[in-house]
Amino acid sequence: MIPRSLLFVPADSEKKLAKALTIAADALILDLEDSVAAPNRAAARHKVCACLKHGAPMQLYVRVNAPGSVDLLHDLDAIVPAAPAALVVPKVETIEDLIQLDRLIAEREVQAGLTRGQIKLLPVATETPRAVLNLLAYQKAPPRLMALTWGAEDLAAALGASTNRGLGGEFLFTYQVVRSLALIAAKAAQVGAIETLYADFRDEVGLERSARNAAMEGFDGMLAIHPGQVAVINEAFSPSEPEIAHAQRVVAAFAHGEGVAALDGKMLDMPHLKQAQAILARAERLASLRP
Ligand code: COA
Ligand code: MG
Repeated sequence: MIPRSLLFVPADSEKKLAKALTIAADALILDLEDSVAAPNRAAARHKVCACLKHGAPMQLYVRVNAPGSVDLLHDLDAIVPAAPAALVVPKVETIEDLIQLDRLIAEREVQAGLTRGQIKLLPVATETPRAVLNLLAYQKAPPRLMALTWGAEDLAAALGASTNRGLGGEFLFTYQVVRSLALIAAKAAQVGAIETLYADFRDEVGLERSARNAAMEGFDGMLAIHPGQVAVINEAFSPSEPEIAHAQRVVAAFAHGEGVAALDGKMLDMPHLKQAQAILARAERLASLRP
């Protein structure tokens, strides 16, 4: 199942790694890229491997370095044999990047005696202008693609923007377009869509608004950068009791097998039934994950 909350943890920090394992995130993203200074990277790889060997109550993902970097090869050599559930890949620009990465991972999976394709891929798909223009190609991605996420920080730098937020704090139009394209590209490729992070980690109200909007729009989960964000995100991406009750009423309204029904004075047809069934399926999957 696509995780609701994915908490970034700088992998060079023993303290944060230990703390993260106690947080109810559906997945951790142990970071070897931007949150780790280059001189600490080798030691961070060892910490990631130790963490993967030890195991955790949540899924463990690793953010590796960008395609084309020497660091990426060192990351893959060290990390693939330790079998993380997925690799988060920054700054992916083209589908060829993903295809090449797929091959590099597969070689190392086979060498390590793992199942070819078991390590999934979660690219950050919008970090450069070229990457945005190539979003359509995700429909031809290798089968290990599990979801994609988007980012506004590196893209703003690449566009020469001074900021990605308007005066009211909302994403400027360019980033709203990119966000929507990432969502649509993910769904067209039949994989999960993960909302980008909310950087202002003390602003719980803003985080909740952002997470709930994303869930309503069809995103499956959201990145977190601070332990305090995880509960809010989990809640926003779990169907609420009233949503479940309403979905059950919608499904019941179609019990007689017709293509259209009425509920509370409103017409319902197939898209409403599909949405209701999706909410109930998601609620069931979540209930089976945690008591
Ligand atoms: N994972 C695990 N533990 C974390 C954490 C994280 N992402 N962020 C903070 N913590 C821990 C802190 O170490 C601290 O632990 P303590 O109570 O044992 O002292 C506690 O949570 C409270 O942290 P707080 O003091 O509120 O924040 P901070 O100033 O220590 O850290 C950041 C702020 C932004 C540096 C930190 O949240 C962080 O490193 N986030 C992840 C950054 C990252 O990975 N970026 C890459 C993706 S963009
Ligand atoms: Mg970045």
